[in-house]
Amino acid sequence: MNYRTIDDMFERGTLVQLTDLWTPALARYRERPAVIIDIEVLGYPRSINRQKNGTSVSEKYDCIYTVALMPAERNATFARAQVPVIRVISSDVVGILAAEQEAADFAAWCVREFCGAEPASLPHPITTGNGRFIGAAVLPHTIPMYEARHRPNDHRNKSLDAIDQVRRHLDECQPDVIVLASTHWMPRDGFFIDDGAQHEDGCDSSYQGVEPQLFSFPGDPELAALIGDLARDAGLPVRRIHRVAQEHAVWVPGHLLCQERRIPLLPCSIWWRGPREAHRRFGEIIAEAVRRLDRRAFFVASGGLSHTFDFSKPPEYVVPQGERFDRLAQEWLERGQHGRLLDMSEDDFETWNPEGRAGHLYMMRGALGQDVRGQSLCYQGSNGTGYLTMVFQN
Ligand SMILES: [Fe+2]
Repeated sequence: MNYRTIDDMFERGTLVQLTDLWTPALARYRERPAVIIDIEVLGYPRSINRQKNGTSVSEKYDCIYTVALMPAERNATFARAQVPVIRVISSDVVGILAAEQEAADFAAWCVREFCGAEPASLPHPITTGNGRFIGAAVLPHTIPMYEARHRPNDHRNKSLDAIDQVRRHLDECQPDVIVLASTHWMPRDGFFIDDGAQHEDGCDSSYQGVEPQLFSFPGDPELAALIGDLARDAGLPVRRIHRVAQEHAVWVPGHLLCQERRIPLLPCSIWWRGPREAHRRFGEIIAEAVRRLDRRAFFVASGGLSHTFDFSKPPEYVVPQGERFDRLAQEWLERGQHGRLLDMSEDDFETWNPEGRAGHLYMMRGALGQDVRGQSLCYQGSNGTGYLTMVFQN
C-alpha cells in the first residue's frame, strides 16, 4: 500500500515522473517530464487494482493532480498551445524528477503560467454600493451524489431532494452570482480565488484517464479581482488563478443548482489548516467586494459536516462521535449561533473532524455578515460521514 495523505501531497510547481503502471493510457506521456499545477483532494482513499503476475494488486489514492507535460519538441519559448494538460490520479505519479536545465525552465514557466499570481492592485475608488449576500446554503457534493439522480435506491437521493429545494429557492431569489467555497481545494499556503471568465475543462481531450469534467460555467472576474485586492490589503494570503480544471466540490453543486441557467459562479478555496478566524475574515472581505460591486450574491459552502469514513456499515451510517457534533453544529446553525462553531475546543473539533476543517462554514458566516438562522432541509449519514443541507436567508 502506498497511501498518501493530504499533508503528504506534491505541491504546485513540482516536477514529477509519471508511470503507466495503473493507467495504461498514460504510456504515451510516460517519458515526458510533468509539472503539478493543481490538486483535487478527494477526501478519502480510493482503491485502484491491476493484475501483476496473475494476481490482483491494489493501491490507495486520495487526490487527483492536474499536470502540464513538457512539449516533445522544444521551441525557443513555451506556449500553452504546445503544452498538454491532463488529470492523473496520485498513483500515476512515481515521484519527484531531478530537474535538468530544460525541465527546470519548464517547471518555472508552469508556475508562472498555471499556478496562480498575486492579486493586482486595483484603482477602486468605489466604496459605496448596496450589494450583499441575499442568502447561503451548506451542501454536500460527492460525485456519486451527482450520479445518484439516475439510481432511485441510492441513499443520497434524500440530500439530492434537499439540494433541489435550494435550486428552487435560487429560482425565486435570482442571484447575480454564486460564490462557492470548495472543501476539496485545500492549498496550504493561503486562499485561492478563481478569476476566470469561463470555467470549463481545459484538459487534453485526447486523454481520458480521469473522468471528463461535466461543467461549463461563466465566472465573475471583476468580483474575483476586487476580492483578491481587498484580501491582500487586509493581510490575508491570497492568490488568484484561472484553474485549468475544476473539481467535484465545484462542479457537482454547480450542476445541481444552476442546471441550464447561466448563473456566474466564482469558486474559491479554503486554506488547509489556516486559522478559523482567517476564514471568517475572508468571507467578510468577499461580502465587502460584493457590496461595492452591487451584486446580489448567494454563498455556497460546498462540503459535509463530520468526515470520518466507515464503509463497513450500511450506507447511511454516521460514526457516532461525528454524528454527536453534527447534531450540535446543526442546532447551533439553526439558532444562528455561528460563533459556537468558531469557539469549539481543539479536542472537540478533532473529534468532530469536519470536512475541510469547516473552513466553508466559517467563510459562510463572514459572507453573511451576521448570525443568520439556518433552515435544515436534510441531515443524513453517508458511509460514516454526515451530510447537511441547510439554507440561510439573509
Ligand atoms: Fe467532499
